Amino acid sequence: MTGIPASIDATQALLAGADYVADRGLAATIFLALKMQRPLFLEGEAGVGKTEIAKVLATSLGRPLIRLQCYEGLDIHSAVYEWNVQRQMIEIRLAEAEGRKSSEGLGQDIYSERFLIRRPLLKALQASATGAPPVLLIDELDRTDEPFEAYLLEVLSDFQVTIPELGTIRAAQPPIVIITSNRTREIHDAVKRRCLYYWVDYPDAARELEILRRKAPEASATLTREVVAFVQRLRQADLFKLPGVAETIDWTRALLALDALALDPQTINDTLGVLLKYQDDIARVQGSEAARILQEVRARVAQAA
Ligand SMILES: Nc1ncnc2c1ncn2[C@@H]1O[C@H](COP(=O)(O)OP(=O)(O)OP(=O)(O)O)[C@@H](O)[C@H]1O
Ligand SMILES: [Mg+2]
Repeated sequence: MTGIPASIDATQALLAGADYVADRGLAATIFLALKMQRPLFLEGEAGVGKTEIAKVLATSLGRPLIRLQCYEGLDIHSAVYEWNVQRQMIEIRLAEAEGRKSSEGLGQDIYSERFLIRRPLLKALQASATGAPPVLLIDELDRTDEPFEAYLLEVLSDFQVTIPELGTIRAAQPPIVIITSNRTREIHDAVKRRCLYYWVDYPDAARELEILRRKAPEASATLTREVVAFVQRLRQADLFKLPGVAETIDWTRALLALDALALDPQTINDTLGVLLKYQDDIARVQGSEAARILQEVRARVAQAA
């Protein structure tokens, strides 16, 4: 286990050590969230590196990563705890067969921790009893419904959950909580107020170049520069879904698989499906538009060199 970083610069360096290239604003917010033990709420478009932050923090701080993937209809049974009804039934039958206990004593027995199935939120609260606080990733919170959000409030403000049959379980130390949202709907203010907030934006060209140098180091310098310039230019186009960092990395790897040393119109057309995921967007860019952007990109890369 590593202690939390001592400054914003140290936070940026810690993330870079795990090949995550964060701008200063993000590093500052992460640093503060760690220092103040507050949950971090990250919003942004798809594929900009929100989920990755939790993974990288867990790895670089040497903490377990506990992940709660949100979806519509997510309930307490899947997110917090469930009683192991089958084992409870067996216990009851055994006790009956052995004539062991009064029904009151048995009731207490079968609602003990032994029969509790821990789901991610409860696991995250209890983990620090035996080790360092884990990283709890609550991924894509915007997919759940509001009752679940309301439930999260208790967890996030007091780091505790209440199980009627058992009582309140409180974290010995708060976990490092990262919440992400793709903003398909607004998250309630009450949840946001308990968190530090950061909007994870598309990276600028310099940062995206650095990301590619780390994530696709085999690519030639020319290819990397052209890919970044091309993607950055595409993000200004009127498309239904702009490519994220994930797509930039995937595209570079696809180009490498085709042994490309630089971009050319044919290769771009052959690989557009790695970069764009909507047929309308592909149709708009394919052919003459791709060739035109490529010319612009080459001129810009030549100028920068
Ligand atoms: N700043 C960055 N430095 C290094 N790698 C990055 C960065 N941003 C994104 N990536 C890479 O991009 C990929 C996608 O990141 P991630 O899955 O975290 O995106 P996301 O924002 O959670 O997307 P979604 O909303 O679709 O879940 C990962 O492979 C990650 O390594
Ligand atoms: Mg994600």
